[in-house]
Parts: sequence; C-alpha cells; structure tokens
Amino acid sequence: QLDDGSFEAHGTDTQWIADSRKELRLNRCIGLPTETVYGLAANALDEDAVRSIYAAKSRPSDNPLIVHVSSMRMLRALYHLPASGATRPFLGTANAAPEDAGAAGLAEPADMDARLRDAEDRDRAQGGDGVWPEIPRVYHEAIRRFWPGPLTIVLPRPQCIPMIVLGGHGDTVAFRFPAHPVARAAISACGLPLAAPSANASGRPSPTTAAHVLHDLHGRLPLIVDAGTCDVGVESTVLDAFSPNSRVDGQLSPCILRPGGVTFEQLAELAGPEWRRLRVYKRDFVSTELELNPTTPGMKYRHYAPSAPVYVLVPQAARTDAEMARIVQQQIDALASERGARRVGVVAVAAAEHVFVAPPGCTLCVHRVADAKELAHGIFALLRSLDETEHVDAILVQGVGEANEGMAVMNRLTKAASFHVLC
Ligand code: TXA
Ligand code: MG
Repeated sequence: QLDDGSFEAHGTDTQWIADSRKELRLNRCIGLPTETVYGLAANALDEDAVRSIYAAKSRPSDNPLIVHVSSMRMLRALYHLPASGATRPFLGTANAAPEDAGAAGLAEPADMDARLRDAEDRDRAQGGDGVWPEIPRVYHEAIRRFWPGPLTIVLPRPQCIPMIVLGGHGDTVAFRFPAHPVARAAISACGLPLAAPSANASGRPSPTTAAHVLHDLHGRLPLIVDAGTCDVGVESTVLDAFSPNSRVDGQLSPCILRPGGVTFEQLAELAGPEWRRLRVYKRDFVSTELELNPTTPGMKYRHYAPSAPVYVLVPQAARTDAEMARIVQQQIDALASERGARRVGVVAVAAAEHVFVAPPGCTLCVHRVADAKELAHGIFALLRSLDETEHVDAILVQGVGEANEGMAVMNRLTKAASFHVLC
C-alpha cells in the first residue's frame, strides 16, 4: 500500500487488478469482495454504469447505493469535481496507466491538490482545523476510528455523483471506505469511486463467497474477483448524522439506519454529547406510517431470504442455554407436527452439548455456532446452503441478544423470517 492509500501489485497473480480496472473503466459492473459481503461494483460517476447495477441485480431503482472510495483524498476530491456528464475523471496518480495520460476527460484535474489545499486554507481562515473541510465535522472521529472498515456514513451529495445513485431519496449519498485489501486495490487501480450494493439477486441472502455471487448473477457479469470468505459476514453499519432525519427537536441525534459491522456500542463510545443520543432506526411492525414512509428504503422489501421459510427464535435474557435448547426442540417438534416439515434446518447457538432429536418422519440438519459474532459471520452462507444444498423445507434459527454483533444479525434474521418471529 502506498502513502496515498493506493496499491502497488506484488507477486504474480495480479491479472485481476488489470482486469477489474479495465472492466470498471469501461463502465461495466463486476463482483468484488469486501470485508462485509461481496459487492456488485461499478463507476459511481456514470449513469449507465450505475443503471447496469440495478439491472444485474433486478433491484428496484428507488433503493440508493453506497459509494466506495479507497482514500480520504478520493472522497474529498469528489467535492471538487464538476457535475456528472461529460467527464470521467481519474482520481489519483499513483496507479495511472500510460493510456490515462492526456486521454480526454479521463485525467484527474491537474490542480486537484491545489483545490484541496485551498479548501483547507479557507477552513482554517474560518477558525477550523483545516482537516477534511468537505466532510461534516460530526463524522471526523468516527472516520478516524472505523475507516477503513464496515461503516457507511450519509454525506451531502457531491455534484459529480449522479442522482440515479440516490434512488430519488433526498440529496445525500452514503459513502464507505472498505478495509478489504482487494476492494481497496480495485478502487484505487481504476481511480473511480464505486457504487456497490451487495452482489446478491434482490431479496436473496447477501453473498459472502464468490460462489454465492456466481450462483445469483451467473452470466450477467464479465468478472467476479474471488478472495475467499468475507470476514464480517453482515453488511456495513449505515450511520446518518447529517440529513434532517438525524435531528430530533432541533438537536443532532445520530441515527443508525442499518445495524452492521460496527456496533451500536462502539459508536455510542465516541466523544461528544451527540453520541449519547445515538438512536437505531427500528422497523415498527405495528406502524403502517413507518412502513409506508421508511427512513431508509432497504426497510421496505422482504430481504435476505432463502426460499425455505425461516423461523427465528428471539432469546429472553433470563433463560439458560439448556432452557433455550429445550425451546428449540419444542419448535422443531411443532414444525414437524403442525407445519408438516420433513427436513428441518437448525442453526443453534452455544448449544454444543445439546443433542436435538428428530421427530418421527423428519430429518434434521443441525449447524452450530459459538456466539453472535460467529452467527453474523456465517448466517448468510448457512441460509443458502440449508436451502440449496440440504434442501430443507423449514429453517429454524436460534437467535441471540441484541448486544454488540447481535443487533445486526438479528436485524437480518427478523427480515429473512418476515413474520415468523418466535418468542
Ligand atoms: O457492507 C456493505 O455496506 C455492502 C458492501 C458491498 O459494501 N453494501 C451494501 O449495499 O450492503 P446495499 O445496497 O445492499 O445496501 C445499502 C444500504 C441500503 O439499506 C440503503 O437504503 C442505504 O444503504 N443507503 C444508501 N444510500 C443511502 C442514503 N443516501 N441515505 C440513507 N440510506 C442509504
Ligand atoms: Mg443488500
């Protein structure tokens, strides 16, 4: 990694860098690993490139996309580019290939460093510290702590980002600086910010291996970069401390729009009184008003779901592991006797000693995880393999508490389960 956040390739297996660079510069979308889930990435500055993402995913185009950058310099530079349209500027110089030099519309504006320095000077003249003047100050500490990493922040829209990226939802753009070295290398090699939703077909569990991407989007992508299994396993945390939604009674009150890889507890520890007011956008099953006017559009659709119905058991704090295991067993029996399930997939947490008994005429496929973190890491792959490989006709997941990694994984599970949430 070079000082400006870009990458230099070492070793022999580097063809993927050249290949992804080529496809991305041609405004095609590719499958790309990140530390959370695999993304379906394309040039965020080009409308047609972004349109091809929605088309490949069969995603409703009113659901906005996250824009990925590979350095703070790249993010800042976006605020100094003209409106989208004619130009497709190359951002960064370290990985410039010979064909970039002088190619019309493809070179970074020669005075970009001067523009960035001017912005810093103006900020200092107004009493600021001259650091990242384009980025609202409220985010600076969060960026220092969690970037690169699984945190997405809602920022003002740079005029170079076309409206199609926003899905028609206000004048903000969600940005993320991923930690995965392959994602960072690909972004920095093409020199473009990349719009990238999770690379699943819309409504399916998010992909945490290249094989999942291939399964869902076979034949629709020129390239999928395979870097093994994703570390985190659930998507990034989407944090809004900027839009009007992040104000309550005139006070800044940051809001987690989607729990994810950075936990509520980690964000609530940031310095500053506003982080004591951190809230989580909660799907409210009884409020039709919220259902019709969701704060983040991802809330509207049934999500993350395999084709077998998913049942999730919400744990009660007072119950012991043995009591939980007994309740899981009761639910297995009920799925067989009341719903006629013949093959039941079970995802059990911290129940290593407990042996689940298959009801008569029923087969069990039991998978065990140690804790919430392991559940988050493996849940999407488990949902997929129970469905597609083990062909179960119902999936029962023992849920976890909402603390730390538990919040994100329970958010995904209750959506996958739709209304089959058991207490
Ligand atoms: O970990 C991740 O975030 C992955 C990887 C590929 O980076 N990406 C991902 O993207 O999960 P996607 O498109 O599946 O989810 C984007 C989420 C949606 O819930 C969307 O509504 C929200 O971010 N979002 C995007 N732009 C927004 C904005 N301007 N304001 C509020 N929410 C926004
Ligand atoms: Mg998604």
